[in-house]
Amino acid sequence: MASVQQNNSRKSRKILITGGAGFIGSNFVHHWCNNYQSDRVVVLDALTYAGNRNNIASLEKNANFLFVQGDICDRSLVDKLLAEEEIDTIAHFAAESHVDRSILGPGAFVQTNVVGTFTLLESFRQRWLCQGQPLDYRFLHVSTDEVYGSLAPEDPAFTETTPYTPNSPYSASKAGSDHLARAYYHTYGMPTIITNCSNNYGPYHFPEKLIPLMCINILLGKPLPVYGDGQNIRDWLYVEDHCRALDVVIDRGKPGETYNIGGNNEVKNIDLVRQICILMDELAPDLPVSPSEKLITFVKDRPGHDRRYAIDATKIKTELGWSPQETIEGGLRRTVHWYLNNRDWWQPLLSPEYQTYYQQVYS
Ligand code: NAD
Ligand code: DAU
Repeated sequence: MASVQQNNSRKSRKILITGGAGFIGSNFVHHWCNNYQSDRVVVLDALTYAGNRNNIASLEKNANFLFVQGDICDRSLVDKLLAEEEIDTIAHFAAESHVDRSILGPGAFVQTNVVGTFTLLESFRQRWLCQGQPLDYRFLHVSTDEVYGSLAPEDPAFTETTPYTPNSPYSASKAGSDHLARAYYHTYGMPTIITNCSNNYGPYHFPEKLIPLMCINILLGKPLPVYGDGQNIRDWLYVEDHCRALDVVIDRGKPGETYNIGGNNEVKNIDLVRQICILMDELAPDLPVSPSEKLITFVKDRPGHDRRYAIDATKIKTELGWSPQETIEGGLRRTVHWYLNNRDWWQPLLSPEYQTYYQQVYS
């Protein structure tokens, strides 16, 4: 896990991490526990299909760590946790996060992403008011670059002032939650900060997303479904770099501000899939189909598929001193290794429910 430069005057925190059993959330929980061992860390996670307690099981023996299974929409639970644990910081990751699922069923996205975020904001506001509006409280709202919509090939990358144009039910629900977080600062002065990040990749990434799906399908000898013409572009960031960025934002970010976070790694989907194939061919002995590029299959496009995302991360670099450290080549190699060495992690996730979902999207 990445470490951060220790700041001697750093405030110790009692932090609630929502969605801490998911992909980025669990990486962030490990990051925080490794770097700040005397902080109190409370994870609140509903353990939906995307949540996996095993991701953070090694931390459960720590006296400073508490896992609570529960829903961020449950106001009385959230009130109780904030009061009992004397929470001064929320890092809010919990969300429905997969675009294809939002197309199949948008209701859960509105419920968790909008109503859930509203519930957390209200509960935190009450606590912050009761404690006399401390200046060092923080509500970090973790969001996505998808709220900015889709870029044409020659458009400049998204900045913090790019107008919101969400195109999927997922990104629309995240946009709604961003507006609420922003309004709580503007109206009440509550110290919220929003981050909008590009595509993450790395360990603990649920199999439905592009990179793990391709790794797993290669290992199983299954077709590699590339949507449309494969020319869509995403800006990839290794998850540890994202965790370091969020840490810096909590420590030094200015309340009321938004920070864009990106990897400066724009790659076409088809090129990314080919890179994964090359890495798997090199690293995995006895693949069922070799070379694995033979498995690439172009399939029906995702409805409303955004063409290109790209993040301009100048603000967080110049104001807070963060920049990504991992290259796409190094990060992909580490990720391919991780999926090769952690079959026990991903095999149980290919459950009958997952197969039903898979059929719905890919049949
Ligand atoms: P994920 O789907 O892997 O994990 C989401 C977690 O939230 C799961 O553990 C799930 O159990 C939990 N959860 C869902 N609904 C809940 C509820 N009602 N109450 C409590 N817990 C609930 O998601 P991720 O990819 O780790 O994304 C985390 C956050 O980062 C999301 O807010 C997402 O919008 C944002 N984000 C993700 C990416 C990315 O590339 N994955 C990029 C930018 C921003
Ligand atoms: O940009 C940040 C966003 O990145 C996050 O907010 C989302 O939570 C996260 O899921 C991710 O969204 P994407 O839709 O970009 O990620 P996904 O891995 O689903 O797809 C990446 C690209 O690959 C996208 O252009 C669609 C394409 N794709 C995806 C799958 C699953 C395929 O071609 N085939 C596939 O089977």
